[in-house]
Amino acid sequence: MNHPHYSRPRRLLHWLFAAVVLWATISGYANALLQPPCSVQQAIAFINVSLTTLLVPLFVLRLFYLVRHPAPPAPAHQSAAERRLVHAGHSALLVTLGTVLLSGVLMMSRPIDLFGLQLPQPLQDPAATTFFEELHHYSCMVLALLVTGHIAAVILHQLRGHGVLRRMLPKRP
Ligand code: HEM
Ligand code: HEM
Repeated sequence: MNHPHYSRPRRLLHWLFAAVVLWATISGYANALLQPPCSVQQAIAFINVSLTTLLVPLFVLRLFYLVRHPAPPAPAHQSAAERRLVHAGHSALLVTLGTVLLSGVLMMSRPIDLFGLQLPQPLQDPAATTFFEELHHYSCMVLALLVTGHIAAVILHQLRGHGVLRRMLPKRP
């Protein structure tokens, strides 16, 4: 049987974002909570700011493909209520991801170091950067919770024999 898949650009962007978001979340919290040596903290902060800044234009591309390449039809076993829940979950992930990216850039109180290329910080007012720092703090927590729920839901579906994962994997010939 031929199963419907997300388009190739949507699959590529999904897995690229998944890798960077998981890395930035785990290493970002490790940096904040475990207090590793200063050199490790600086290296993680440098890598994370560079990697996640690259996601900003890719996020716009992701929204473009979201509109241009609609999702494949929902699996037949899903009820209307489940479809609404999946849709709400994916929408919440994207809105929160957008908030995390935007607040990350706007909270910067130093130039944004993009693998050595210095981009000017967008805001100068300390009250505004503090506001976006708080927003980054809370939106990162919400994103971590949503991603945990998202991965748990995928595992649960797989265990029940509903192969949703293959919708995000390359098409088999
Ligand atoms: C995928 C998007 C992103 C994720 C998942 C993410 C995740 C995180 C996490 C988990 C923390 C620690 C949170 C805390 O201490 O409350 C953090 C802190 C931080 N993030 Fe992000 N972030 C993202 C995007 C960005 C962007 C785009 C920038 C700036 C260009 C940025 C700059 C920072 C800075 C400067 C810190 C504070 C580091 C420190 O003071 O130790 N983040 N981020
Ligand atoms: C190991 C980690 C992950 C796995 C196994 C996974 C798996 C999947 C699967 C199977 C789907 C298709 C669901 C369907 O329509 O049937 C999906 C969609 C989606 N996932 Fe993930 N995911 C992971 C990480 C993430 C992360 C970290 C994010 C957040 C940034 C995310 C955001 C989304 C979004 C927004 C969709 C809707 C389709 C799209 O617009 O790309 N996923 N994921």
